[in-house]
Parts: sequence; structure tokens; C-alpha cells
Amino acid sequence: MSCILLTGGSGYIGSHIASLLAREDKDFVIIDNFINSKKSVIKRLEDTSNKKINFVECDIRNTKKLIKILKEKKISAVIHLAAKKSVEESILNPLEYYDVNVSGTLSLLNAMKTVGVKNLVFSSSATIYGEPEYLPIDEEHPINAINPYGESKIIVENILSDLIKSDKEWSIVSLRYFNPIGAHFCGLLGDDPKNIKSANLLPVIIEVAQGKRECLKIFGNDYSTLDGTGIRDYIHIMDLASAHIKAFDFIKNAKGLYVFNLGTGKGVSVMELINCFEKVSKIKIPKIIVNRRLGDVGSCFANPSKAYELLNWRTKYSLEDMCQTAWNFSKTNKLIK
Ligand code: UFG
Repeated sequence: MSCILLTGGSGYIGSHIASLLAREDKDFVIIDNFINSKKSVIKRLEDTSNKKINFVECDIRNTKKLIKILKEKKISAVIHLAAKKSVEESILNPLEYYDVNVSGTLSLLNAMKTVGVKNLVFSSSATIYGEPEYLPIDEEHPINAINPYGESKIIVENILSDLIKSDKEWSIVSLRYFNPIGAHFCGLLGDDPKNIKSANLLPVIIEVAQGKRECLKIFGNDYSTLDGTGIRDYIHIMDLASAHIKAFDFIKNAKGLYVFNLGTGKGVSVMELINCFEKVSKIKIPKIIVNRRLGDVGSCFANPSKAYELLNWRTKYSLEDMCQTAWNFSKTNKLIK
């Protein structure tokens, strides 16, 4: 049986993919260096799946160790998520971002090449599109990095494109995520970064609901959107995770490099998300309107039809599911810490 290597498997997205791999009885090994995730996630994965989770502590920049793992575990495909992901932090510390996201991926690709593993699913981001030139955004939309985090994802996509040209045996899928939110339905897995405070909308709303922040700052209500607040394409983390399983199945039969947008195709405003959260949690969120946040765009949502067609993937979960599961997780997470 073939074995999958899941890099960054104890992080927010990785742990949800791991839960699906376990549910589908796929053979997989997680590697992580816990730079931004907690070791307790592995135990929670075991509790959720009722299975032993194979795990090795490893930094993706350690090529020698990667080669050893690829050989010993007889890896046939890699789902590569291990990366740093804060836009703000990437502006303050670009070298760290290029080191982990670019050098780390190069190290992984070199290890894969050495061992002859040529199947890869890569975690990219919609941030690479920059300021939208048209909506919804399809995969042909021009690429334009507006911060080092986005640039690091573009560099890796370019490396993958060159790699495919040099060796036609590679099968690579790059998944461009829009705005993943929500949590696993079990309540044990969710967005739970270790060292950085999330500045994303739903985690901030939850902190306000928990009384950890006084009020939510809405960054601008003067965008040319229906209610003036920013529009994004929020996608349930379990829908995002399931796309990786589909992508993994896809690369078994397709050589080359394929890029896919992962979103619902539906734009949701900041106000709509707040209203939905208030409805499911029955908590009123104190809020004030402040200036626009530097680097923010007014509207950004996907045309996900390519993933629908080629991966045979559909999103299943609603905005209510996203708010409800994230809220549930924040409560259980607080209890078991
Ligand atoms: N927002 C607020 N107040 C907050 C936080 C956010 O009003 O306290 C607004 C933003 O202005 C924006 C919307 O909520 O209109 C969503 O903001 P997020 O920070 O949740 O998400 P972004 O779209 O800015 O960025 C996210 C990820 C990036 C990723 C990008 C993909 O954080 O890493 O989506 O396009 F690159």
C-alpha cells in the first residue's frame, strides 16, 4: 500500500486533512516541527480517529532527515503544507518566510527527487492574485504579490512549473486557498496557532465573543460592496481538506502541473459574517468601524469551477456550519487546555 507524507500535518489545515486520511484508512505519516502548532494535536487526532497516527518531528529544511523518512516509510506522494502563513509577520521578517516557505520547499523537492517520489499536492494561496482585476477570480487571473508571504508562494509555484518542464514524470497539484475558516465537527480540531495571534476575521470575532477583546474593529465600510464592508470567499476547513483528498486521487492519473482555486465561489461581507456568527452563537458582537487595513482589497472571491470539473469536488458546508464549528471548537479548546 502506498504511503502519503503530510508536511505541516499538525497545523490548522493539516490536522483536518489528517482526520480525513485517517477516516478513509489511507496510510500516512505526519511531519511537523511545531513552529506554530501544538503537539497535543497529534493526541487529539488519535482521539478523533480512534487510530494510531504516525508522526515524526522534522523540519522540512533538514533534507537528510527527509530522505530518510521518504525511504523508510516508503512514501509515494507528498501533501506539502508546512509553511509560515502570517502576512503581517512576513512583512516584518521576510527572510524567515523565504527560508521556511521557499528553501524548505526546495529541500523537500530535492529529497523527493533523490528518492524518486514525484507526486505532490502543494498548499498555495489566493493571496498570489493580489488586487483583483476581475471577479470571480479564475486560475488565469494575473499573479501579483503584495507581500513576502504571497511572493514566497509565487516563487514556489514558479519552481514547480520549471520542475515539470525539466522532468515530465512529476504529477503536481497546487491548491490556491481562499479564506478557510471553521473547525472539525468533533470539536477537538480547529484553528489554534501557538505563537502568533490570528488577525483573521473569524478568530477575532470569537475573541470578542469570549471577552478577550473589547470590540471588533471593522476595517472600512466604504468599499464598493453592498454594505460597504470587505467581501471574501470563506470556505469550511473540512471542504478545503476534502479537496486535498481529491487532488491526491487526481495526481495518481495525471502527469504535469495543475493549479486549482479552492473557494465556494460566493462572496460574503464582513457584516454578513458577523451577523451569521451572532445568530449561531446568540452573542451580540460589539463593533466599531475604523479605517481600511493597509493592503486589504475590497472584494475577493473565487471561480472554483475548474476544481469542480477536474477534481470532481464540491463544497458542502454553509456559512452557519463555519461559524458554528469554529465557535464549538473555541469552547472545547478552552476547556481541555
Ligand atoms: N477584517 C476586519 N476586522 C478584523 C479582521 C479582518 O474588518 O479584525 C476584515 C478584513 O478587512 C477583510 C475580511 O475581514 O475584509 C477578511 O480578513 P482576514 O484577515 O480574515 O482575511 P484576508 O482575506 O485579509 O487574508 C486571508 C489570509 C491570508 C491569505 C488570504 C487569501 O489571512 O493569509 O486570506 O486571499 F493570503
